[in-house]
Amino acid sequence: MTGWRQIEVRCSDEPAPELVPVFAVETRLRIEGGDDRLIDLAADAGFAAKPGEWLDVLPSSGRQTRTILIGTPTCGAASEHDWASFGGSLTEAMTALRLETARLRDMASLDDTMLEKILLGAQLHSFGYANGRKFPDPAPRPRRLLVASRAEGACKAARRTAAIVNRARAWIEAPANRLTPQIWAGELPAIFEPLGASVRLFDATALETMGAEALLAVGRASEHGPLLTVVEWRGAPEREGWDAVLVGKGLTFDTGGLNLKSGATGIAKMGFDMGGGAAVLGAVELAASRAARCNVVAVVPMAENAVDARSFRPGDVISSLGGLTIQIVNTDAEGRLVLADGIAHGILTYKPGHIVDVATLTGMVAIALLEEYAAIYSNDDRLASDLIAAGEATGERLWRMPCEANQDYVVETPVADVANMSTFAGALGVGVSAPVSGPKLLQKFVGDTPWAHLDIAGTAWAARRSAYSGKNATGYGVRLLDQWLRRFEPA
Ligand code: BES
Ligand code: MN
Ligand code: ZN
Repeated sequence: MTGWRQIEVRCSDEPAPELVPVFAVETRLRIEGGDDRLIDLAADAGFAAKPGEWLDVLPSSGRQTRTILIGTPTCGAASEHDWASFGGSLTEAMTALRLETARLRDMASLDDTMLEKILLGAQLHSFGYANGRKFPDPAPRPRRLLVASRAEGACKAARRTAAIVNRARAWIEAPANRLTPQIWAGELPAIFEPLGASVRLFDATALETMGAEALLAVGRASEHGPLLTVVEWRGAPEREGWDAVLVGKGLTFDTGGLNLKSGATGIAKMGFDMGGGAAVLGAVELAASRAARCNVVAVVPMAENAVDARSFRPGDVISSLGGLTIQIVNTDAEGRLVLADGIAHGILTYKPGHIVDVATLTGMVAIALLEEYAAIYSNDDRLASDLIAAGEATGERLWRMPCEANQDYVVETPVADVANMSTFAGALGVGVSAPVSGPKLLQKFVGDTPWAHLDIAGTAWAARRSAYSGKNATGYGVRLLDQWLRRFEPA
């Protein structure tokens, strides 16, 4: 089982060092309920109560509890995302002060939604991947955050979401030797079956029978063969059909294949190339765990793009599950190949109302949009705007890129139905790495189904802290897709 750690949030009256929210109104400090002694102390120390800023007030006698003042966003003006970010700063202050347990002083002005976001932020920011090292880091780390008993409901909701996002992160951070397609898929029945969702696995033999040649080609060189994993959640059995199929790229490692990735740092990161698969599995788990009344399927083509005498080659022409032939221009453009078979399987088997694929597809998108936005390409304005709105609601933002018929030429080739990389160099000569070639290939497999492609190459892994994440794997997409699925549920 993939392990991780996170702070435990618990309703309790036990004594513990207390985190006291302080906010600034213009230049004056305020503590809810008032506390002149602390305000004077804070002002003398030059404490400005900027959100997340903290001040350790050591007790003057042994009987007093230790107090940590912590800058709080302004009630009323602050967004849910500000409160999640504040929750993260609680655990960051605890880490810096080496506190294992602390209590958050209650504020009457906080409603349940804000409280839930604070507790979610605390759990998401305290995430750490547990790799089973024998001598764990001896520094104390935050283990328990105690809150008032009225927070029971908020605690429960935040715990459920955090555990699922953090599980997705643990998968993403797991090194490729510890998360092969077989290990990953093997974890799924124990997660999904207790929730009433069903899991199907198609191994290489089954993929051959199906004709999933693109996924087979990508996975052929690895000792850990490819798998197609499908999870069905049927939360609205009274309705026929499937609201959505979510397809996630599940490359447990991407060497680039014979077009080997160059540059030591770039290739070493490529264990994260299954972030799209983790996102769609997490979204379906979240939906199932709250018994969402929608019908949704996660499809995850899992493979390792390795180098071996059996590797597929640049110049090869392969077939695919959807029936189109594909010219392999570059073996490092492998994500779109496995997604094409995943999409075709989803459409042929489920004829869904919508198809959304999620993938760490192109380095270019990470360069263009950095960590603040994932790219969305779509053939349907309504679907695109619904997904963008869901992302605004959860703080996982999307920026729409053009995906129009006048760009079809980028994947045209005289030797096959489609090329797996741009064949158009353009005036500057660098057009061959145009990121739109990925979605343009995928679009050939979606037909008329409303479809969106989310390129999360820049958002799946963070080098900066954000409202819902520390550094490293972010779990981007889990909450966004769960939020979007709510539109299929009766009010
Ligand atoms: N997994 C990579 C995308 C990637 C690269 C994500 C760097 C994050 C950082 C993907 O399979 C890939 O190699 N894409 C190529 C596409 C190109 C060959 C058209 C890329 O981005 O260079
Ligand atoms: Mn690649
Ligand atoms: Zn890749």
